[in-house]
Amino acid sequence: MCGIVGYVGPKSTVDVLLGGLKRLEYRGYDSAGVSVINHQGQLETRKKAGKLTKLVEDIEKAPLGESNIGIGHTRWATHGAPTDGNAHPHLGGEHQKLSLIHNGIIENFSELKTELLLQGAVFASETDSEAAAHLVAAQYAKTGDLTESFRTVVRRLHGAFTILVVHEDEPGLVLAARRNAPLVIGLGDGENFLGSDVAAFVEHTKRAIAVGQDEIVILKAGSVEIENFNGEKVTHEEFTVDWDASAASKGGWSSFMAKEIADQPQSVGDTLMARVSSDGYVNLEELASISKLIPNIDRIIMVACGTAAYASEVGKYAIEAWAKIPVSVELSHEFRYRQPILTPNTLVVAVSQSGETMDTLMATRYAKEAGASVLSICNTQGATLAREADAVLYTHAGPEVAVASTKAFTAQITAIFLLGLHLATVRGTQPKEDLQVIGKELLKLPGDIADVLTTTDSTRALAKKFKDARTVLFLGRHVGFPIALEGALKLKELAYIHSEGFAAGELKHGPIALIEEGQPVIVIVPSPSDPDSLHAKVVSNIQEVKARGAQVIAIAEQGDAEVSKYAAEVIYVPAIHKMLAPILNVIPLQIFAMELAAAKGLDVDQPRNLAKSVTVE
Ligand code: G6P
Repeated sequence: MCGIVGYVGPKSTVDVLLGGLKRLEYRGYDSAGVSVINHQGQLETRKKAGKLTKLVEDIEKAPLGESNIGIGHTRWATHGAPTDGNAHPHLGGEHQKLSLIHNGIIENFSELKTELLLQGAVFASETDSEAAAHLVAAQYAKTGDLTESFRTVVRRLHGAFTILVVHEDEPGLVLAARRNAPLVIGLGDGENFLGSDVAAFVEHTKRAIAVGQDEIVILKAGSVEIENFNGEKVTHEEFTVDWDASAASKGGWSSFMAKEIADQPQSVGDTLMARVSSDGYVNLEELASISKLIPNIDRIIMVACGTAAYASEVGKYAIEAWAKIPVSVELSHEFRYRQPILTPNTLVVAVSQSGETMDTLMATRYAKEAGASVLSICNTQGATLAREADAVLYTHAGPEVAVASTKAFTAQITAIFLLGLHLATVRGTQPKEDLQVIGKELLKLPGDIADVLTTTDSTRALAKKFKDARTVLFLGRHVGFPIALEGALKLKELAYIHSEGFAAGELKHGPIALIEEGQPVIVIVPSPSDPDSLHAKVVSNIQEVKARGAQVIAIAEQGDAEVSKYAAEVIYVPAIHKMLAPILNVIPLQIFAMELAAAKGLDVDQPRNLAKSVTVE
């Protein structure tokens, strides 16, 4: 976790660093800090426990000197409590001329720390990262060559790290290294940037390079060199960031989450763009690199964590129904430890907004080593997952800043639907015309989402009504089941309310015992036109819980008269193809969780204990 930013160039470094950290705060917000080398050649460091605003206030009260080089960090605490002392940067060397920031975990830090303590190093924090600062400083004291010393030290570190270093003796140089943690370079004109992802610098430049595994960056205002840990030069292709810088700002909304929920007509539309023709024909050119495999795929395993895993669960129903390929969904952290059976005809689909979730990355590496092919569905250009996969299908949700995922979720489901239709088309598993009918329905989604977003008053009122609920249950069936799980997750994440999602068919096998007078139960109701009569079954479930005192809130299709007879409240969404309904059904659940958390006075963008991108195992 943690966000890192580095800058060298003519702009006000403090402004660039704080701006970058603001965009990276989703990666952790336990503390923040910056180091700059001022125009007098002195290193100045400021760090504060708490959210970035604390650091900003502190710097406003006592500004740092003018400078053209610096590094910044926003922390999600692993080793050591979130205090000022444990905040990054960490200083090294007898005269504390070196400053270092770190994202990741240095697994052998305790051995390194013991060695340093024996040499007389004095530690100011409980972090693993500080050991690296002392090590580089000690090595530099011996060799007098900062880059060489940095290279030597990173070779000794085990675990996951992106590390940035500046030193008073080299006031025009930022050194960076990465292993198992993200690092992207932003290329400017007479200035250059480093960031955990492109959001850190997209307001300044859209030209970027993704740094590879075990590589070092030597960053100066007028040059960027990349080399491997042995000092051999490496080159990577530059790419253009397609995110709009303004998309990463709140733009007048009360929270990033509110904005991102409202972005969904656009993000789903952008994800569909150029992939579905107006007559509903789906073609994914991005899959060219795995085109030979497609006719032979005999199994798909989707790996993901959190919300991305629920998006995958929805996708499982669609891909199996359309492309007739068996699909299983696995939490990435479970997948690789149970020795899954993978063959060259297995397609592993890794779904991740950030493309940096460590468990998902490790799952895909495992899959590749075992001979399977990996397709990643990812929202972040240049992310590690995108680079390591055999093919990438980008979601075009734009930057998602709020920790709880909303627009990335609906964009992920959209992308998986496209994948299902593409596979079905190529493999000829359904008549083309039938697939085109679904393709055309997909094109209706942006408009339908916009409709859902214009009728949210009753959802907002319900959220306020249930603000003191101690537990909320969610029920769904078929594609509504993962939506019940996602609705429950949103409420846990944002409002810290115990909530659980169940498959409605499972109700009588246990969960119904939880129902008592007044228990709120949110039910995702399938369309009354469902050919498998799932609607009737779910309406029966509503009656069963109602009979035991539950207060039922139903999410149902417009015109569903039956459900209103039993549910205390009904939130209606437009009718759409039954497989696509999750994208509309989840929106009231997102709004419910957000409004309920806001009614409790909680920070909906940065819920306690969480980080958006879990880059450690
Ligand atoms: C964290 C976030 C979730 C996210 C999950 C997977 O738990 O809080 O919102 O769904 O990670 O993230 P990814 O970037 O892999 O989609």
